[in-house]
Amino acid sequence: MDKKIVYSGIQPSGSLTIGNYIGALSNFSELQEEYQCLYCVVDMHAITVQQDPAQLRKNTLDILALYLACGLDPEKSIIYIQSHVPQHTQLSWVLNTITSIGQLNRMTQFKDKAEKQKEIYAGLLNYPVLMAADILLYQTSLVPVGEDQRQHIELTRDIAERFNSRYSPTFEIPEIMAPKVGARVMSLQNPKAKMSKSDPDENGYILILDDPDTIRRKIKRSVTDSEGVIAYRDEQPGLKNLIEMYCAFKKTTPEEVVEEFKDQGYGALKEAVAEAVVEGLAPVQERFREIRGDKEGLEKIYQDGALRAQKMANKTLRKVYKKIGFIPFSS
Ligand code: TYM
Repeated sequence: MDKKIVYSGIQPSGSLTIGNYIGALSNFSELQEEYQCLYCVVDMHAITVQQDPAQLRKNTLDILALYLACGLDPEKSIIYIQSHVPQHTQLSWVLNTITSIGQLNRMTQFKDKAEKQKEIYAGLLNYPVLMAADILLYQTSLVPVGEDQRQHIELTRDIAERFNSRYSPTFEIPEIMAPKVGARVMSLQNPKAKMSKSDPDENGYILILDDPDTIRRKIKRSVTDSEGVIAYRDEQPGLKNLIEMYCAFKKTTPEEVVEEFKDQGYGALKEAVAEAVVEGLAPVQERFREIRGDKEGLEKIYQDGALRAQKMANKTLRKVYKKIGFIPFSS
């Protein structure tokens, strides 16, 4: 039997944080044996907020190199750039015709982003429909993402179900796959807000490519509380966040971390977290530097990935067009 499909994407809209790493990227490579995985750099999503063209090009290649640095193998996974596969926008148009504006208006990410724009463009509102097209084009079963994408995956399921019931079963209904700990890494300065690359306070986030001293400094300065007790609970959100970061890098559980540090102060825990992050990121950073320098190697990978993705995407798109009633065209 064919392997089930895993699909995920990351926007090249800035440097990636350890939130992106813990919530998504670090979980990608282990899925490669059991599933047919597709990992995309979603450049068309990134332009829903204004991007500098040179920076967008750089960020796109950075993410491709990070995919490889985190262990993605182009022999196993399909690694490609979204704008190289036109079927995404083609399916997205069709899905737009069965998605209600009310539902799009309720998306929390849309609301958050719209608040920050002077003028709200249609692309920002339709963002989740393009995301649904990404996922549904490949008959995806599982989508490894952080918790912030749950609402988008639910919308994707709704859209798929609507199409399937209006025409006939066409799309696989995908499921979210979020990590047990670290599905929502919080800001180091405000542990009630998600860690994000768009945070104006750079002490709030750690970038995957931050150097060791910067990582240590940011963790040392992170906001905790005045309880003075090491515990894993919602009432101590700063500490909870640090414990989850430690768990993600050390592959351990919050209970074990509390047990290990219960007789120590916050300073000792922070130092241990910093060392875990520095150690965990070192090999990724080293491989990134090697891979990022090899422009031709990268180009071969994304070209080959796009061709393989197009083949799969075309199959679904042709089915969709036929069911809708479009006249087939063969070139
Ligand atoms: P993006 O580029 O914002 O984020 C990439 C991935 O990182 C996760 N993430 C986090 N996880 C835990 N804690 C955080 N603080 C944190 N911040 C970000 C995100 O959940 C995501 O998994 N819409 C997607 C991109 C996308 C996509 C898709 C994903 C487009 N098409 C199809 C899956 C399938 C996004 O904005 O990711």
